[in-house]
Amino acid sequence: MSQINFAIEALKDGKLVAIPTETVYGLAAPIDNTALLEKIFHIKERPYFDPLIVHVATVEMAKKLVLEWPEVATALVEKFWPGPLTLVLKKNNKVTDLITSGLDTVGLRMPDHLLTLEFIKKLNKPVAAPSANKFKKTSPTKAEHVSESFQSSEVFVLDGGKCKVGIESTIVLLQNQEAILLRKGMITSEELNPILKKFGLSLLENLSKKIQAPGQIEHHYMPSVPLVFVANLQSDWKKKLSSFPWNQSPGELQLGEDPFMAARNLYSQLRELAKKSSFIYWSLNEQKNKDPYWEALVDRLKRATSHFLE
Ligand code: TXA
Ligand code: MG
Repeated sequence: MSQINFAIEALKDGKLVAIPTETVYGLAAPIDNTALLEKIFHIKERPYFDPLIVHVATVEMAKKLVLEWPEVATALVEKFWPGPLTLVLKKNNKVTDLITSGLDTVGLRMPDHLLTLEFIKKLNKPVAAPSANKFKKTSPTKAEHVSESFQSSEVFVLDGGKCKVGIESTIVLLQNQEAILLRKGMITSEELNPILKKFGLSLLENLSKKIQAPGQIEHHYMPSVPLVFVANLQSDWKKKLSSFPWNQSPGELQLGEDPFMAARNLYSQLRELAKKSSFIYWSLNEQKNKDPYWEALVDRLKRATSHFLE
């Protein structure tokens, strides 16, 4: 039996299915299976106020879940789907409050991974899936990362290899003739704006205080040991850590020069370093601070950082 058939059987047995995507692995349940959707929140230890992204295999599937599909959405998905872009649109009643945490919008995305697209097609239904990690912890980019966090009796893992993008999708809210960036990702504002412009839009920063994307809250994506940002590696930064009991064996995060490689390796490197170091440190040069392709990665790192040494 193929992996996909096993995954479909697993759902019938009351298990969740971990799906590979190009960004990170997701923990999936069919959008109409309340018991399995609840299980996602339960085993992730995720609060119910954090909505799930719905994953589709075709644009038609996405259109069936919304009240209105604006023209700009067609233009965006023609360019970026399948791929790391989530669109947030007004939902219809096929999407339950459990998925959207009571919001009247839904996050939609077509992942760029053949195994998962085939799984969704075979199921003939969209699946809701957050990243397959415990709440606030580092996202999984390999099948074994998922197996390390969840029991095989509860989650069947579709092994699709290593995720090629490596950090979560860019999230854009399309509402009231506005486009708002809710979460940064490897698809940048610079790439989105030329398309938005054709519809008289330009990407706005999210100024709302209301949590629309909990990926945006502080202390997300945390590794299991402290993560320290060092502004100046030439300074006596190690002295500043001398009062901490965990200051003995540092692990240095190597970002390299290519932002795409850095994103692809970020979470697995954090996991590996956390296994053999008592803390992890990272630093940044001016050039990276200015390059839009480093923005999402630096955003994730800052949210995961527990100590900033300026
Ligand atoms: O790349 C990704 O997006 C990955 C893969 C698995 O697709 N998924 C992911 O899911 O990162 P998660 O649950 O870890 O983060 C999804 C974010 C959450 O912060 C959630 O609040 C936001 O998407 N979100 C989902 N629906 C939303 C909505 N209707 N309005 C605003 N934000 C929403
Ligand atoms: Mg997540």
